[in-house]
Amino acid sequence: MSADMRTILAIETSCDDTCAAVVTEDGVVHSNLIASQMDHDRFGGVVPEVASRRHLELLDGVVGAALADADVSLAEVDAVAATRGPGLIGALLVGFSYAKALASTAGLPLVPVDHLQGHVSANFLHPSVFDPPFVCLVASGGHTFLARVEQRHGYEILGATTDDAAGEAFDKGARLLGLGYPGGAALDQLASTGDANAIDFPRTYVGDLDFSFSGIKTSLLYKLKALPDGDFESAKADLAASYQSAVVEMLVKRIEQAVQRTGIDRVAIGGGVAANSLLRRRVTELGVEVKVPPRSLCTDNAAMIGSAAFAISPLQPGQYSELDAYPSGSPIAV
Ligand code: KG4
Ligand code: ZN
Repeated sequence: MSADMRTILAIETSCDDTCAAVVTEDGVVHSNLIASQMDHDRFGGVVPEVASRRHLELLDGVVGAALADADVSLAEVDAVAATRGPGLIGALLVGFSYAKALASTAGLPLVPVDHLQGHVSANFLHPSVFDPPFVCLVASGGHTFLARVEQRHGYEILGATTDDAAGEAFDKGARLLGLGYPGGAALDQLASTGDANAIDFPRTYVGDLDFSFSGIKTSLLYKLKALPDGDFESAKADLAASYQSAVVEMLVKRIEQAVQRTGIDRVAIGGGVAANSLLRRRVTELGVEVKVPPRSLCTDNAAMIGSAAFAISPLQPGQYSELDAYPSGSPIAV
């Protein structure tokens, strides 16, 4: 940790949410703002060009509001942190270039942060700071993996999805159920009114600690096709609840196995899917010490980027002007 970094202004624009936050080294979140781009819903997915353009329009205002919300001026900030990757390259470039320009103009250091490290580092924030070692499930719209976390920066991948991410499974399931995009939260909501034991979905386990979610999505498609005409509305909630239950069971089973393999009986979760009600409940029933961050720190946000930044060496002005964003890969994972 750098002795000079006490207050960080963080920026996150890896997908379609324009996020800025102010975080201090003690893990306190002083502001955490998100401007969600609703424009993508009607396209049934994120349109990269639309996301980049909206980030451009929104970012300056969101950053200003994050500083104002935290009652902090740019002069009181010690460093600017920004997501460097992975994500949509155009979206990342808007946020990362903005951060470089802002830091450089203010004579501040810049901390480039990996988005997935951010999801892990959300666990170091208040209301309850959870320090390593722990096993962490990161499940988002683009990634799903289990990590062995031994320090505040970097982690070892224990297992990962071999096809869809868990968030993608939720989103594709939600779309089939007519719930819009992204539909994870809507499916969660609908599932609360259905019977999770009503319909049998396959649970797939591949590799050692890996995941596979493509089969369950196909299974839902066939179950919907087989429904007699007119039965969709009455079957929808049971389908959502049973589908959610199967996805969550696959995630929790792997967490349990990772705890057994590593001998680390401390568990944390992160990523948008960690906002899921059933997953949040099930992990607390594992019988080990568990950290479940508030929902606002699970889905994409900039506070988690600020949190990660405290464990990364900052680049001084003059050292970061050539630095580029990266769309894929996560160099800090081993
Ligand atoms: O981490 P995140 O905000 O963005 C990425 O980095 O991808 O994760 C977004 C994903 C989406 O697939 C969304 O549907 C899912 O998280 N999600 C949920 C819930 N809230 C968000 N999935 C299940 N239940 C939820 N309550
Ligand atoms: Zn994310």
